[in-house]
Amino acid sequence: MALIQWFERYKIGVESIDNKHKRLFEIADELYMEILRMRDEDILGEIFVFFIEHTYSTFTEEENYMIKTQYPDYHIHKMEHDIFFDKLMFIFGVFDKDKKVLSVTFMESVKDWLRAHILRDDMKYADYITRNRLL
Ligand SMILES: [Fe+2]
Ligand SMILES: [Fe+2]
Repeated sequence: MALIQWFERYKIGVESIDNKHKRLFEIADELYMEILRMRDEDILGEIFVFFIEHTYSTFTEEENYMIKTQYPDYHIHKMEHDIFFDKLMFIFGVFDKDKKVLSVTFMESVKDWLRAHILRDDMKYADYITRNRLL
């Protein structure tokens, strides 16, 4: 069973973003599993980089959609993305010195953030595009 799992209820209704979210959960889950298996740091580092890259491209795609559809809460939403992304980059920086920073606690916080952000912030945007028939 996956530890970080995407559920149907996370669907925001924009297919390309839903697919990116699914992939994000898969990569996060893989990283979580490999941390539990205590895999060596090169492998963990590789998956972590992949997760950071995929997070970046997901956020960028969402933000582009928001700009295109003139979403009024774009700046607040982007700030949420930026705070999370900065946290990932911070952990990535520390990872070089302290390999233990990629921990179960960290992955639990990633899981909580993804779930809360999609259900609260991404859904708000999804409501806006459906209400305004912008799809
Ligand atoms: Fe999202
Ligand atoms: Fe978002």
